[in-house]
Amino acid sequence: MAVLGIETSCDDTGIAICSKGKILYSSLSSQEDLHREFGGIVPEIASRKHLEVLPVMLHRLKENFPFEKISGIAVTKGPGLIGSLLVGVKMAEGLSMGLGIPLVGVDHLMAHAVAIKLEEDIPFPYIALLVSGGHTSIMLVKDYTDMEILGETRDDACGEAFDKVAKMMGLGYPGGPVIEERAKLGKPTLKLPIPDLGSSLDFSFSGLKTAVMKKIMKLSPLDDVKVNNISKSFQDTVSAILREKTAMAVKETGIKHVVFCGGVAANRTLRKDLETEGKKKGFKVFSPSPHLCTDNGDMIAFLGEIMLEGGLLENPPLSPYPN
Ligand code: KG4
Ligand code: ZN
Repeated sequence: MAVLGIETSCDDTGIAICSKGKILYSSLSSQEDLHREFGGIVPEIASRKHLEVLPVMLHRLKENFPFEKISGIAVTKGPGLIGSLLVGVKMAEGLSMGLGIPLVGVDHLMAHAVAIKLEEDIPFPYIALLVSGGHTSIMLVKDYTDMEILGETRDDACGEAFDKVAKMMGLGYPGGPVIEERAKLGKPTLKLPIPDLGSSLDFSFSGLKTAVMKKIMKLSPLDDVKVNNISKSFQDTVSAILREKTAMAVKETGIKHVVFCGGVAANRTLRKDLETEGKKKGFKVFSPSPHLCTDNGDMIAFLGEIMLEGGLLENPPLSPYPN
């Protein structure tokens, strides 16, 4: 098969062609610059931008990969921003009907959890630590479409905490990459709280975010040294939380392969910390390349091809779900 994958769940428009588990074409349009001035994603702007760029991207695809060669369409149907999801879903439905080829709706979180399979041959089952701007979950991945959520955030997502802390310090959006850079120059001078959720594999980041906000108010006006130290202290605390929960999940399941994925997994320091923890506690950490960690069309085309090959097609209209 040659499956066209369409991803529009949040603020990135991604399309890709996957055939026999290999990516033949991939294109991504990021909206980071548009949302920067607001310090976060504005849903209405996001959906309008998808509507503008998706047809252009598909036209460009057509010049490189004739549509007659496409034998299936896969599209993210949730979770995500409903307006953004609808743009991709309606386009996918139209293409499927117009070209007379099968359609499948793909779960965004499942796609993140299996994107690693494009690069590494890790056997099922494994644990996926999925940490992005919208989600923070620990999943037991039993197969391509058979997964169990072992724990998830009770409030803010981890990437959202990075974005909010960066915003408080006037560092712009997205916050993750700039906090990572600032943290390299800082010292962990602040003591920040690690939430105690007992034996639960759930996460909570809102207490940490509030604690950082209080420290920022106390330390203002901020200078470069203070910003670097706050960034380092915050990132170290996030690292401790992720390491603790991952080690608990490994202990609970006995599964020793961990896939660290989602936008926050692009953070090299957090990756290294988790790998070191794995060496100490006897688990092995895998992470996809950064372009497969953040939102992309490749993972949708990849999982979509597997689903369509397995007969999991759907008739329009699909039912997109925000959560
Ligand atoms: O997976 P993703 O592209 O979109 C969502 O589905 O949310 O993740 C975006 C999130 C943002 O919150 C961004 O700040 C965070 O990932 N992020 C990072 C880094 N790069 C992106 N967080 C920490 N360190 C990074 N280097
Ligand atoms: Zn995502």
